[in-house]
Amino acid sequence: MSIQTDNIQKLVERRAKARLGGGEKRIEAQHAKGKLTARERLSLLLDEGSFEEYDMFVQHRCTNFGMEKSHPDGDGVVTGCGTIGGRLVYVFAQDFTVSGGSLSKTMSEKICKVMDMAVRNGAPCIGLNDSGGARIQEGIDALAGYGEIFERNILASGVVPQISAIMGPCAGGAVYSPALTDFTLMVKNTSYMFLTGPAVVKSVTGEEVSQEELGGASVHASKSGVAHFAAENEKEAIATIRELLSFLPQNNLESAPFVETADPVNRVDDALNTVIPDNPNKSYDMYQVIRSIVDDERFLEVHKDFAKNIIVGFAHMNGRSVGVVANQPGVLAGVLDINASRKAARFVRFCDAFNIPLVTLVDVPGFLPGTQQEYGAIITNGAKLLYAYGEATVPKVTVTLRKAYGGAHIVMSCKQLRGDVNYAWPSAQIAVMGADGAVNVLHAKEMKENPEQATAIFEEKKKEYEDLFSNPYQAAQKGYIEDVIEPRNTRFRIIRALEQLASKQASVPAKKHDNLPL
Ligand code: HXC
Repeated sequence: MSIQTDNIQKLVERRAKARLGGGEKRIEAQHAKGKLTARERLSLLLDEGSFEEYDMFVQHRCTNFGMEKSHPDGDGVVTGCGTIGGRLVYVFAQDFTVSGGSLSKTMSEKICKVMDMAVRNGAPCIGLNDSGGARIQEGIDALAGYGEIFERNILASGVVPQISAIMGPCAGGAVYSPALTDFTLMVKNTSYMFLTGPAVVKSVTGEEVSQEELGGASVHASKSGVAHFAAENEKEAIATIRELLSFLPQNNLESAPFVETADPVNRVDDALNTVIPDNPNKSYDMYQVIRSIVDDERFLEVHKDFAKNIIVGFAHMNGRSVGVVANQPGVLAGVLDINASRKAARFVRFCDAFNIPLVTLVDVPGFLPGTQQEYGAIITNGAKLLYAYGEATVPKVTVTLRKAYGGAHIVMSCKQLRGDVNYAWPSAQIAVMGADGAVNVLHAKEMKENPEQATAIFEEKKKEYEDLFSNPYQAAQKGYIEDVIEPRNTRFRIIRALEQLASKQASVPAKKHDNLPL
């Protein structure tokens, strides 16, 4: 064998060994838990044959606790770039078979390298996390590594989309880095997110808790809101990442890709004319409206199980990506509370950062009153959404379907909060509050002084109030909305508005950064 052939043979063998990460036994253990390996995940995520791996031979430099005896090539992370739907992405996938995917200093260097490349080349960065956090044996070096990753997460925020999938038990820095990114996906039953695992929790607080109860997908997708998506399995999680990217631009200087559709722009939907019930206290399904107006009924919902009183997600309208924000009258009457405000504010800010126009569908009775909300700072949290809409410079088209009361009307992308084109259905009620509440405030004294007449007074004043305010025409007369539209025409009226706004120019005054009410 010539020297060169021998060299190539050695390379092939070394690569094959590196591809086994922590070894066959640990790969089997990973599979036995219903989990894929880092490389299997990447091959599902990226277009076939597109993966370019970097730093396959990087090894850790730790000399403590017997670590010096083993130096697996690549350490606990696989990094590189590839394409999704033909578009460039940078990726890292932590390998649980090597020291539980825990982060060494060299692993952080590998991750930071692809993050830097993502920013330099204007492409999304996707992290597949399966890691016990900072590698304990490395001490301060591992913490330094996290500091460097966090710095890049922060500086890349709003520059390139950052997506994190949690694909195993993730602790410490392995959850804080995802928390700094734009979207976090979890896998039901096999992925967990917590600052420290159950063993540490028990030793510090005495609390006994399972991984699932502490930080399972259902906890974070429905209670804490830390996870934006909860998938049934890893394949579904990876498919969701691919789908999500189809709505996003590569970076903050580009627009999202145009997606061909056969759905006619001028498709009308007669069913929308009767979607609003006659009884204003009855609910209806906002999903019906969303599916009706977007291309091909395709809607990728974000935070589906968290704060269900507001719906946010991506769709296309005439092939162009839009962010949809809609109150859901079917849950808590669509009221705005702390979690709904946080959820929508974050979504609005993401869309604004990445040039995705906002379509807002309004049916909101107001902010949720009460001590629980006040103690939890509904004022500050509600202000987040107000702020997010107010600072957003992307095209904003708003349709008020029914209720738009008080502060909640203003928050939901009203005209005076830099809304661009605002429409209302004939069923809209744009007012300080609903008729019952208003009459009870304005005529309480009169009704109290005439108890026998109270019902008659109430009904008379209610009618007077409804004639005046329970319709969209006060707002239309004053130019606070552009038009009152027939519900069946909503799709093409929004698309026309978006097309008109495609060349919109707007900015905010120069500043170091804003002071969003956190
Ligand atoms: C070194 C680690 C490790 C870690 C796991 N391993 N976590 N090695 N450093 N942080 C190793 C284990 O020793 C084991 O090695 C292998 O990975 C698999 O771990 P298991 O415990 O057997 O797996 P499992 O039962 O599934 O539990 C996974 C786990 C648990 C929940 C992640 O390992 C755990 O609680 N780890 C510690 C989590 C933690 O507190 N991390 C520090 C966070 S602080 P062997 O060789 O036995 O197979 C942090 C600082 C940044 O990250 C903070 C930023 C703000």
